[in-house]
Amino acid sequence: MKKIVINGNRKLSGCISISGAKNSVVALIPAAILTDGVVEILNTPELTDTENLRKIITLLGGDIEFGKGFMKINGKNVVSNPIPSELSDKLRASYYFMGALLGRFHHVVINFPGGCKIGKRPIDLHLTAFRKMGATIVREGDKYTLDAEHLHGANILFDFPSVGATINVLMAAVLADGVTVIENAAKEPEIINIVSLLNNMGAKIVGGGTNTIRIEGVEKLNSAVIEVIPDRIEAGTYMMIGALIGENLKITNVIPKHVEILLSKMRDMGVEFKVEDDSVTFLNHDALTAVDIKTLVYPGFPTDLGQPMAVMLTQAKGESHFEETIYESRGGHYPELVKMGADIEFTPSSATIEGPSKLVGTEVAASDLRAGAALIIAGLIAAGTTKISNIEHILRGYEDLVYKLSSVGAEIAIVEE
Ligand code: EPZ
Repeated sequence: MKKIVINGNRKLSGCISISGAKNSVVALIPAAILTDGVVEILNTPELTDTENLRKIITLLGGDIEFGKGFMKINGKNVVSNPIPSELSDKLRASYYFMGALLGRFHHVVINFPGGCKIGKRPIDLHLTAFRKMGATIVREGDKYTLDAEHLHGANILFDFPSVGATINVLMAAVLADGVTVIENAAKEPEIINIVSLLNNMGAKIVGGGTNTIRIEGVEKLNSAVIEVIPDRIEAGTYMMIGALIGENLKITNVIPKHVEILLSKMRDMGVEFKVEDDSVTFLNHDALTAVDIKTLVYPGFPTDLGQPMAVMLTQAKGESHFEETIYESRGGHYPELVKMGADIEFTPSSATIEGPSKLVGTEVAASDLRAGAALIIAGLIAAGTTKISNIEHILRGYEDLVYKLSSVGAEIAIVEE
């Protein structure tokens, strides 16, 4: 079994460059098959998620050229083949092929998406919206078959501003007949990235990034180029490492505005850092003060940074209160942090954290992607050696993780045990 081994308690200095956003690129790749032209995606991260999405594109008949930081997808020969569970189970974002294949071919067969086990994660908002646009949906076990004789615009009001449902409706609506309006749409930066690509392809979308998005269906979409925005969750993860053990550690290729709430919380905790146009530098690490965190939709504190943040709170003086409001159970990291010496009382969606506590390295397991990220941070600050198993979760969301951390002085490696 592959494990990540970290000899902790070292100071880190130098420069870490942030990669393209996982939660953007996993939508940009499926969107490329909405045209029979060529879509070029720049600043792509190389992750297991992007590799699995490429396999699905190939299964559908698409042609892909790719290399370091770019992908070219030619949708000319794409047909709506069924997407088997051995591919769709690898990542939740496989469900974006519902919107893309429904949008272009009015037909799709796919199994329920995979992804992290952090709650029920239904797709009712997606399916209800597709039905309003004229799709019929047949479910047999985990297999969904969607067909639309006439795919047309609709007025969609989401109970919850779902990122995935917003993006899926965008992909189904761009070629539909008439106008679709999404109310209570998600406003995450990744939405703006996908709207930019679709409009570059010839779509007519206004309001991306606001809670009301209007899409006027067009006949055809064409070739286009898009650049993936920097990954704000990867950036936030490394910023927390900088706040804890950075000595002149610069995190570059970031959009500070996308992590504004994290920087604000860090200021409240007493962290010192310098913000420039596309970087944040952590000069040294002072004593931290406890703060309360509640995860919310953008621009609130992102749920994906909640698990790494728990490690910061273990090092803050006093009692911190953490509440996860987006998912029912995103607490897989808590038992592992307690094993390392953290003082945490927790439920699946909340925690009271007393600090500072001295963390000591031991064997721990990653339950999901961001729980794994939390364990990486804990291992870096802990005394002694930390061994993290189930690292496939972590490698889904952090490009070149070991290289990036080793290059700034961390003692970290992937070993076979
Ligand atoms: C995206 O997931 C991200 N994943 C998640 O990041 C992120 O945590 C989430 O948005 C919230 O920001 C990708 O972009 C691939 P949602 P998504 O639909 O689209 C409920 C990571 O670590 N819901 O906004 O699945 C759902 O159960 C991952 O990178 C419904 O009830 O998130 C959840 O409680 C984890 N019905 C909440 O909404 C639906 O039809 C947020 O879900 C859809 C969602």
